[in-house]
Amino acid sequence: MSSSPPPIISVRNLTKEYKIARRTEGFIGAVKYLFSRKYDTVRAVDRVSFDIYPGELVGYIGKNGAGKSTTIKMLTGVLVPTQGEVKVNGIVPYRDRTKNGQNIGVVFGQRTQMKWDIPVIESFRLMKEIYQIPPDIYKQNMEIFCDVLDIGSLLAKPVRKLSLGQRMKCDLAIAFLHNPKIIYLDEPTIGLDILVKENIRSFIKTMNAERNTTVILTTHDLNDIDSICQRAIIIDSGKIVYDGSIDAIKARFGTHKVLHIEVKDNLRQGDEVVQLPAGVTVQEFGEHRIKLHLNKEAASLAEVIQTLIEQYNIVDISIEDVSIESIVKQIYQEGWHE
Ligand SMILES: Nc1ncnc2c1ncn2[C@@H]1O[C@H](COP(=O)(O)OP(=O)(O)OP(=O)(O)O)[C@@H](O)[C@H]1O
Ligand SMILES: [Mg+2]
Repeated sequence: MSSSPPPIISVRNLTKEYKIARRTEGFIGAVKYLFSRKYDTVRAVDRVSFDIYPGELVGYIGKNGAGKSTTIKMLTGVLVPTQGEVKVNGIVPYRDRTKNGQNIGVVFGQRTQMKWDIPVIESFRLMKEIYQIPPDIYKQNMEIFCDVLDIGSLLAKPVRKLSLGQRMKCDLAIAFLHNPKIIYLDEPTIGLDILVKENIRSFIKTMNAERNTTVILTTHDLNDIDSICQRAIIIDSGKIVYDGSIDAIKARFGTHKVLHIEVKDNLRQGDEVVQLPAGVTVQEFGEHRIKLHLNKEAASLAEVIQTLIEQYNIVDISIEDVSIESIVKQIYQEGWHE
């Protein structure tokens, strides 16, 4: 029997507090501020613990300000934790940033790592020097990236002339250039159209399948998570509220359905007087459409449809599983209870 490999990322009680100078309004406030600075502390990451194993594809999910980027910055060594431990491939990232850098690739969707005014290819060459990438690996990778991400025609252009999607693809390729063991992607698909998003998703999955690259992904597009990841860690106000498989999340909400009903009647807001059974929530009501959310275990589908038929002139009904999007929204609101 073979035992499973040790975790490649291990985090224990990881905590980060930011100190923010408090200042009072007005001139007196400004003077006071100069002499005695008072600080408020924000605990952005609060005693977070997890292990991630080689080759895992993990979605790190949370609302704005939940602490995702702060966690990633501690994993990459950019930030020093206030408390707790972090080990990445046996290295404490903030103590040995250079050595840690050899093992990781990072993409922050909000900004580029490339030099603005020079052709894209120069940024690739620079990375080749920095990481001392052997020529054969460099050549092989450039071929794969040009093929899968279709960036060949972009290499001669200066970065400032690229569209957002083109720039993102180049940033992604650069992050993978030195064959890192781990890739951190902080909102890599932000602002991109659906085709580019899909291209990026399939590239990430290809790299993971072929090289066993470990992927940590933060995104607000839960379709990214659904398409790429097997596991999700959900954080809220710096604390982990869920860590487990995406399938388990879906199974838990497997009895939840969304009903789309199209009616002849002209519905007006405020008229939502349908006597619906308990456990059904109205998500949309207006024009000729009603959208309902229900848990089949709590409310009978037949009963709900019967109620609707009695009150409306129904043209069409469709029933869907709930999206990962609305599931996560529900977990944010109610937490995850076993
Ligand atoms: N440099 C900083 N100084 C002070 N507070 C900060 C700093 N960076 C982040 N914070 C605060 O820490 C908390 C977590 O921020 P973080 O950027 O990690 O969130 P996030 O989950 O990445 O959010 P988003 O989805 O908006 O990117 C927030 O309350 C934020 O205001
Ligand atoms: Mg962020």
